Amino acid sequence: MPTASPTVSPIRRLTHRDLAACADLSEDRGWPREEHKWSLLLSAGTGYGIDDPHGGLVSACVVTEYGPPDRPTLRAVGMVLVARIHARQGIGRRMMRHVLAEAGTTPLTLHATRQGQPLYEELGFKVTGRAEMLQGHLTTDDSANSVETRPATAEDLTAILRLDEAVFGADRTPVITRLPAFADQLRVAEENGRITGYAAAWPNMDTQVVGPLIARDTETAQALLASLAAHTDRPLRTDIDVRHTSLLTWLKARGLASVTFNAVMTYGCTELPGDWTRRFAPVTVAAG
Ligand SMILES: CC(C)(COP(=O)(O)OP(=O)(O)OC[C@H]1O[C@@H](n2cnc3c(N)ncnc32)[C@H](O)[C@@H]1OP(=O)(O)O)[C@@H](O)C(=O)NCCC(=O)NCCS
Repeated sequence: MPTASPTVSPIRRLTHRDLAACADLSEDRGWPREEHKWSLLLSAGTGYGIDDPHGGLVSACVVTEYGPPDRPTLRAVGMVLVARIHARQGIGRRMMRHVLAEAGTTPLTLHATRQGQPLYEELGFKVTGRAEMLQGHLTTDDSANSVETRPATAEDLTAILRLDEAVFGADRTPVITRLPAFADQLRVAEENGRITGYAAAWPNMDTQVVGPLIARDTETAQALLASLAAHTDRPLRTDIDVRHTSLLTWLKARGLASVTFNAVMTYGCTELPGDWTRRFAPVTVAAG
């Protein structure tokens, strides 16, 4: 009996039962397994997959929807993967066409790797920005002491959601309300009883990923980063919008090194909504 070809196998919704297969696929492409991140994405977003008739997944991706549930205003695409032995057979293109069809008229955004970018361009995505991934141990000094920060409490959640929506430009409730359980640290910056910024640090393999990082200004972002670094032994990793040159310079002078750049791409809108001046880093490049 002929074996079903992965180029025609159906695209199905992924569930938490697919977590190990998703991590295997990441590993197959030389990415870390990142099960904790996959777990967040599969619960806050919608995973799509193509089964390998021999077991596991041939392809996967996750779409996270933002805005009112009945009329989303933005969808973020991430973790677009095709198993190495099935590469260059049109499977990635088929998966992305499915994502575009499901999105209808809702705009899409993603952070593209160099490998993924030609495929997204072919489908009509446009580069609208760039993010620089940095990693390392942050050595702090007095330059980050001018703004007060503290751990977030349950009472802060409403204010965090309000600030996040204003800065991101769409309601991210499904992701933000999961942060207290997902992240090791969630901290706010406060001035005169008003929250002026917030940031999470969550465990990813042997690093603490800082994201989201939302702050009124660079000083507030520095204070949040320094306070997160002070409460972990792990190296920090984060993806900073390259327009935030002062923060990038500050981080590089204090132990963080550049790992790579990703292109921020959009489809169906010319630029991302919200206020980039206060949006320093995404939750993860896979979810915007
Ligand atoms: C990016 C990726 C998903 C593409 O999947 P794929 O099934 O191999 O892609 P397709 O066969 O559908 O290719 C579609 C087009 O994308 C481009 N493309 C695909 N792989 C490419 C590569 N390695 N380098 C340059 N362009 C590439 C080509 O234009 C290709 O068209 P062509 O084969 O007719 O020239 C896959 O290479 C992958 O999993 N890479 C590792 C993870 C990754 O970087 N994902 C992207 C995250 S943003």
